[in-house]
Amino acid sequence: MQTKPKNKKPAGEASTTFQSVKGMHDVLPAESCVQEKIYRLAREILEFYNFNSIATPLVEYLGLYNRTTGEATDIVEKQMFTLKTKGGETLALRPEFTPGIGRAYIQHGMSHYPHPVKLFTIGPLFRYEQPQAGRFRQFNQIDAEIFSTENDAIYDAQGILACYRILDELKIKNLIININTIGCITCRPNYRKALVSYYKNKEKQLCTDCKRRLPVNPLRLLDCKEPICQPLKEQAPNTLDYVCATCKKHFKEVLEYLDNLALPYALNPYLVRGLDYYSKTVFEINTQPAEGEEKIDFALGGGGRYDYLIEELGGRPTSAFGWALGVERIIDVLHTRNILPSSRPKEKVFLIHIGDLAKRKSLCLIETLRHAHINVIESLGKESLAAQLRAADKADAPLALIFGQKEAYEESIIIRDMKTGAQEMVPLTKLPEMIKRKLN
Ligand code: HAM
Repeated sequence: MQTKPKNKKPAGEASTTFQSVKGMHDVLPAESCVQEKIYRLAREILEFYNFNSIATPLVEYLGLYNRTTGEATDIVEKQMFTLKTKGGETLALRPEFTPGIGRAYIQHGMSHYPHPVKLFTIGPLFRYEQPQAGRFRQFNQIDAEIFSTENDAIYDAQGILACYRILDELKIKNLIININTIGCITCRPNYRKALVSYYKNKEKQLCTDCKRRLPVNPLRLLDCKEPICQPLKEQAPNTLDYVCATCKKHFKEVLEYLDNLALPYALNPYLVRGLDYYSKTVFEINTQPAEGEEKIDFALGGGGRYDYLIEELGGRPTSAFGWALGVERIIDVLHTRNILPSSRPKEKVFLIHIGDLAKRKSLCLIETLRHAHINVIESLGKESLAAQLRAADKADAPLALIFGQKEAYEESIIIRDMKTGAQEMVPLTKLPEMIKRKLN
């Protein structure tokens, strides 16, 4: 007898309550506040280095990522969220910022701007990944890009410096910049050849993805995280032995700048990064575990030089260098190490109203205080004095303002010190000045 197939609902689509989509999470006020602080600091630092903010759409044509991020990358092969419009176009939720910013650079004629053109953006991205620590399907990046007329190593160094500085100012210790050069169009074919010949006849020891990628994009094999591929990777030819003299010189200059800046770096000749557009310098920033701390397996950010992407998209030959930091990963480290950025709690006064007239006048009174930069908490829907005093206590406000019927008629108000209980009646015209005096 055939059994009737059960009408199974996808996870999260329960009949009565919904959950957020797998790998996507709500940012509740406590985390949102940390996120905002990180964004503020990042903006401040990037603006200091003369980056200007840009915002590109959440969706782009799918073809943009096929052409730039690369068809044989995890992102394009497995991780795109795509959609078809009613008009039949295939779009993709952006999995990274760089291609969209490159497209915008060309579309808006930025090649005619004075160079370098330094841009930054902050916002959400989407990758269909298996959710795990530090890996989500919707996540946020702080992204910075430098477009220049020359591929001068000083831009690589300044780019890395700005990226490092954000993490450093967040007090993340034990940072290490893993850095490598993957050569240019002249020398990369030699390295490719060496890799293909090394892996030849060893296909059986590779994962399915690597077997398929070997003839198409052998560099991707060095980026593979599958345990089965690790032993071979460790013996693979390394990039430094194959790059040309120009690329070697460029890399040496980058390292000299980093030395001058006393930035901590480690050469990693197997670092290739999981995106196709890079040339010459590539880097990732990690934090090494402090004593007794578990290893933090993920990079906080990464990037590199990409001197061919703009031309690949139909623009003029343009040198470029950029990176992105993962915001959730930064917050994870700040949480684990208990170093969330603290800020002086903003002192707030609690407004208590009693009676109709006071309630009616409360909104205008709050506006007066806003004008004087005094933060107010209120509970306008509550009527009883006791309930409002309890709320003031819970809010830990140093001062309560008691606005009763009599005071509302007389254009005055009572200021109550919540610690000592001392009260003083003051005219409304003097209120901002009196509050500031008492808070100081
Ligand atoms: P990426 O290495 O793919 O580079 O991402 C940069 C950072 O974003 C990672 O180091 C990580 O912190 C964070 N990240 C990536 N995927 C996830 C995820 N699924 N969940 C949470 N965080 C994640 C890029 O995106 C390049 N566009 C960077 C770049 C800019 N290169 C040149 N310019």
